[in-house]
Amino acid sequence: MIWVGLAVSVMLLGLLLYYLLVVTEGVFLGRRLVVWLYDRVAGTYDTRKAVDPDYETFFLARPLQHHLKHLPNPLILDVATGTGRLPVALLEQPLFHGRVMGLDASGKMLAMAADKLRPYHFRAALVQQTADRLPFTAHTFDAVTCLEALEFFPDDETAVREMVRVLKPDGVLLVTRRKGAWGKAFLGNYRTVAQFEAFLRTAGLETVYTVPWQQEYDQVYGRKPTIPR
Ligand SMILES: C[S@@+](CC[C@H](N)C(=O)[O-])C[C@H]1O[C@@H](n2cnc3c(N)ncnc32)[C@H](O)[C@@H]1O
Repeated sequence: MIWVGLAVSVMLLGLLLYYLLVVTEGVFLGRRLVVWLYDRVAGTYDTRKAVDPDYETFFLARPLQHHLKHLPNPLILDVATGTGRLPVALLEQPLFHGRVMGLDASGKMLAMAADKLRPYHFRAALVQQTADRLPFTAHTFDAVTCLEALEFFPDDETAVREMVRVLKPDGVLLVTRRKGAWGKAFLGNYRTVAQFEAFLRTAGLETVYTVPWQQEYDQVYGRKPTIPR
């Protein structure tokens, strides 16, 4: 009987660890653990992700360029840039003449990004920092993006408010909404489409809309009003 109890306890502990470390990637155990885990996987992140450059052009770079088409040299901030997915996708576009700043809390993810961004070093910069306190003055960026990361932040409301703060009036915000069964596993961090859009409006954005993107993520756009609400 003791052995059965022990086996069940070990199994439950294993399931709990799987939930805390794999499914939700450490978010319920604190920011330091999330960043530590990303530091561990940085070297293999791109291989496992295997993004298709054409797909990135079509679904990320082009729509963003469309939003910024009235600006000759836009300045973009990519929060939780990881290995530089968004900066690379944009800077590879022949018609994009702007600059991109990538911010991430993981030094190892940023080191991978730095390698990939070397050809664009005059137009790309990286900074190691957490998303809850962006080291920029208000109204600095024409666009702020944050892909596949909000659900890993200890406080996504503070992070989004920071992103809105550093956006210029009329600037565009692009963030992702985690969805699907694993999205719902993020318990307090999960929002439906309506809840997510309301969340962005409450943070001060207008013209908020959702675009279905990948199996696990929607893209959600919003614009900062020219006259503060
Ligand atoms: C799933 S990756 C997404 C990376 C990139 N945006 C992409 O789409 O490939 C999540 C990123 O969020 C970063 N991250 C997690 N918590 C963070 C925080 N509190 N502040 C800044 N970055 C954070 C991780 O280091 C990791 O690079």
